[in-house]
Amino acid sequence: MKPYKIAEGIYNVGVVDWNIRDFHGYSTYNGTTYNAFLIMDDKITLVDTVKKEFADQLLSNISEIIDPKKIDYIISNHTEMDHTGSLPSVMHYIGEDKPLYISKMGKKNLSLHFRQNWNYHPVENGEKLSLGKRTLTFFETRMLHWPDSMFTYLNEEKILFSSDAFGQHYAGPEKFDDEIGDAIFPHAKTYFANILLLYTKKIQKLLKTVNKLGLEFNIICPDHGIIWRKNPEKIINAYVKWSSHEAEKKAVIVYDTMWHSTQFMAEKIAEGIEHEGVKAKPMHLRSCHRSDIITEVMDAKAVVVGSPTLNNNLFPTVADFLTYMKGLKPQNKIGASFGSYGWSGESIKLVNAELEAMKFELIDNGLKIQYVPDSDGLEACMEYGKKIGRAVLQQMTAG
Ligand code: FEO
Repeated sequence: MKPYKIAEGIYNVGVVDWNIRDFHGYSTYNGTTYNAFLIMDDKITLVDTVKKEFADQLLSNISEIIDPKKIDYIISNHTEMDHTGSLPSVMHYIGEDKPLYISKMGKKNLSLHFRQNWNYHPVENGEKLSLGKRTLTFFETRMLHWPDSMFTYLNEEKILFSSDAFGQHYAGPEKFDDEIGDAIFPHAKTYFANILLLYTKKIQKLLKTVNKLGLEFNIICPDHGIIWRKNPEKIINAYVKWSSHEAEKKAVIVYDTMWHSTQFMAEKIAEGIEHEGVKAKPMHLRSCHRSDIITEVMDAKAVVVGSPTLNNNLFPTVADFLTYMKGLKPQNKIGASFGSYGWSGESIKLVNAELEAMKFELIDNGLKIQYVPDSDGLEACMEYGKKIGRAVLQQMTAG
């Protein structure tokens, strides 16, 4: 990616990772970008860096605007290595003594990652830094996405450098929201579901603080994906909605199957749910990636989990998904379970225990069918789907 201008004297000098397809377990079909920002002022400032393997490209991008050795300040908004992996190379090139502005937790975490005695300047929440004509303000944003995360706000131009928040794993020809339009929102939603869903309380608190401080944003620059310049309010409003765990009249049926019996059950349960006027989406775990399933789960009212019993246990892909979902803490869900079994049939009980641990409201003990469902079995699945559909409608009316 060639560096490009965001505003007068402010550039994205980051890089595109076209080929990444797995980001710690999250499937990134569209690649991603690691954005890094150069602010040209009396004090030339670099906000964030990029993954280790792109260090040369970052320095080359900066060189198109200024000799990197002329950088005066570095700001590290977040320690995760997609934004700091190239920091040792950058510091080595521009000078190890250059001041590095960072949160207090960032200092601790960067020290543990790189064991370097850099010229750290840990900042307080709300602390300001003058660059000459412009001033930056730092805001602690713990757990968005790590304990070290912070935002950097450019007061004069009202530009927010938001680190992971408001990002998307998307690499394409577009650089700004007005170039891609609403097509970017599914990517932003998947990003939220897989990276930020478990921190919704903190997001709501942060959004309230932003309101209270009366902060305005002309441009929001996340560290991944496109820059929000036409209508930054739109992504903020999406965060307000997503962080509220607002659900649709929708059930996601997540399942795996050994010899298609649990699949037959899943599809019949879906029919029953739809019969009640609730959307149903069966998602087979070896056809759909867990990161896409969790995106659907985020705004579904019911999560229906189907597992065959394999060796007295859950099917492995179901166990994988339940572990992933438990970590991301979706809230206010109805849960249900089903599955085919041969002779012991423990899977339903095991699914229920996991859903209860996630504080899902179980509609009953689940539905299990021995071997292959016959017409009575399929009828039972249909009825089970209707029961789930009615529970969704009841809860949504009550809520
Ligand atoms: Fe893009 Fe939490 O790193």
